Amino acid sequence: IGGENTSNPYEPILKFLNSSKFPNRKSFPHGFLFGTGSSALQIEGASHEGGRGLGIWDDIVEQNKGPFLDADKFSSKIEHYKRYKEDVQHIKKLGVNSYRMSISWNRILPDGTLKGGINQEGINFYNNLINELLKNGIEPFVGIMHFDYPLALKQNYGGFLNRSIVKYYKDYSELLFKTYGDRVKHWTTINEVEFAALVQYMFNIENSSTDQTCTNTKICTQTYTLVHNFLLAHATTSKLYKKKFQAIQGGEIGLAITSGRYVPYSSNPEDVVAAQRLMDFYWGWILDPVFNGDYPRIMKEFVGNRLPKFTKKEKYMLKGSTNFIGINYYTSHFARHEPNRTKITADNYDALAVSEASNVEGKILGFKDQYGWSNVYPEGLYNFLIYIKEKYKNPKVYITENGIASSKISNPLKDGHRIAYVAAHLNATKAAINDGVNVQGYFLWAAFDTFEFQAGYSGNWGLYHIDFNDNLKRIPTDTAKWYKEYLTHDLRH
Ligand code: NOJ
Repeated sequence: IGGENTSNPYEPILKFLNSSKFPNRKSFPHGFLFGTGSSALQIEGASHEGGRGLGIWDDIVEQNKGPFLDADKFSSKIEHYKRYKEDVQHIKKLGVNSYRMSISWNRILPDGTLKGGINQEGINFYNNLINELLKNGIEPFVGIMHFDYPLALKQNYGGFLNRSIVKYYKDYSELLFKTYGDRVKHWTTINEVEFAALVQYMFNIENSSTDQTCTNTKICTQTYTLVHNFLLAHATTSKLYKKKFQAIQGGEIGLAITSGRYVPYSSNPEDVVAAQRLMDFYWGWILDPVFNGDYPRIMKEFVGNRLPKFTKKEKYMLKGSTNFIGINYYTSHFARHEPNRTKITADNYDALAVSEASNVEGKILGFKDQYGWSNVYPEGLYNFLIYIKEKYKNPKVYITENGIASSKISNPLKDGHRIAYVAAHLNATKAAINDGVNVQGYFLWAAFDTFEFQAGYSGNWGLYHIDFNDNLKRIPTDTAKWYKEYLTHDLRH
């Protein structure tokens, strides 16, 4: 793989990929979206230009509140804001029919509110980008909020810890529907709802006055409040869209979650139950409210009154508030029962369980990818898709993100391990479709090397590698060439 060490765990999938039995593009459902993606915060740059207001992440990275690599390149990113036309051409060359992008709230409304004024330059930028995509036969798949939001809302109101922000989120979304909804037919309200909360808490972005209830972890109360308000923002906006815009504009609205299976570490019944608990604590935390109107029973039981409650009206509003679920899948985890929580990680506290990436006492889940990650586990994607289908009555699903870092290869263009990784996960997606899961799209993350919050650019996530020594040149990796071949080959015959 990649011209480097050749004995590798991807061998079988590479053989299969080159055989005629590998599911080709045509074997996916009609109208299936094949895409790639990125987010405003991670690629746009021009943070202090075009009338853009600051976002919470500008503050956190520039104030160096966390251990960030490449923090000096944070505000310039890869200058997508200035080079969007060229970038659309790069995206087009991949042969995709869709592109997952996000809009920066603070570029549209610099202080987060309508009252503070609309930034026309921001409005124009996304108009131009959306038009450029459509002109090139690429459907925009648009995120309303991907981790970032206006710093002023945090400073003035305490951000998403304060419920009043729901109203501002709704106003902002309405402006987007009015402005772009004639052309945008796929909206996601919030990206990685649970992770957005955990990560904000982790880096102390929110107002972290001491948490009285639990002493040895920070998740205890505020993370639940954040997710609660994210969910209310999602449901309020989704209701608005359905009532006022959907019939006229003919689009759909959903949200995106992180995903992954929790695999019991042993056949010990306690581990089996712990794995289910983690599923409920992470995915059920979001999916139960949007499909059934309330949090999972086990969460209520274990978290007690630190878990906020929905009113009757809110439950009604939440239930069915999503037309689809976007799932971001990368890896899966082992789960172990851990009543004493000695090996505590913040996110496992209340579930009385520990999730571990892999390699627990020598045991590895899936296999270790020596160029990027451990615990590569394509079956986890298949199993997760089946789990969703069975638990939530077969909703429509998009794989809104799937991909792998390649931090450990010497030449970022020779990312053969990524080809194999993607092939294995496409194959798992197709297997799930064959077994009745309603998957309607797959977005390979990411179009370009993107700024990762802790790792900076070191993960080389992009189909296009960015050369920081040569004017931010976008260079196609081997995976980009392969993806193009995969997407266009059988269409030529
Ligand atoms: C999920 C996030 O949505 C995205 O912003 C990030 O770059 C990828 N995971 C990779 O870590």
